[in-house]
Amino acid sequence: MTDHLTHVTHPLVQHKLTLMRDKNTSTGQFRQLLREISQLLAYEVTRGLPMTTRSIETPMQQMDAPVIDGKKLALVSILRAGNGLLDGILELIPSARVGFVGLYRDEETLQPVQYYFKVPTELEDRLVIAVDPMLATGNSSVAAINLLKKAGAKNIRFVCLLAAPEGIARMKEAHPDVPIVTAAVDSHLNDHGYIVPGLGDAGDRMFGTK
Ligand code: URA
Repeated sequence: MTDHLTHVTHPLVQHKLTLMRDKNTSTGQFRQLLREISQLLAYEVTRGLPMTTRSIETPMQQMDAPVIDGKKLALVSILRAGNGLLDGILELIPSARVGFVGLYRDEETLQPVQYYFKVPTELEDRLVIAVDPMLATGNSSVAAINLLKKAGAKNIRFVCLLAAPEGIARMKEAHPDVPIVTAAVDSHLNDHGYIVPGLGDAGDRMFGTK
């Protein structure tokens, strides 16, 4: 992947995203749509994935056939909303290793603080796909990727559903080596750091916590 930003404009993605943005969409529908979109975004972000071969018998003859080297892949969910993207991608690549990064925002400093970090071993040898549906200020994504790099990751990609221009710029400045795949680039952030027009709080909408 060479471009810093890939905007997935496929009609299936855009249609499903519109349904997700609609405030009248139920929690159950929202979760299902997120799962479906995550698989379409996975199609984009997994281009050039490490491959290996497996010896199989077709009805005609033996062949060494290409398969994804899932052991070389780590999916990392940025909690908690990242889990909504993680589930769908994991369904497509069940052998991928999985990690979690938990960050909360300190209300005084407004900086992200780590409360959980558990990732697969040998990160330096893996393609690491970090997932978080909302790239808003970019503070938590930048912090999560800092932690992944500190743990050894050298080849990282980032998947989100919506990105604000502010978050894209912040990521490009801090991590120009990390390509971003997104379904939309929205207008701006409001004073509370929410993406406009956006879809609201992704975690609340997928878990029904509001
Ligand atoms: N996180 C969200 O869930 N929504 C936003 O709009 C911004 C950050």
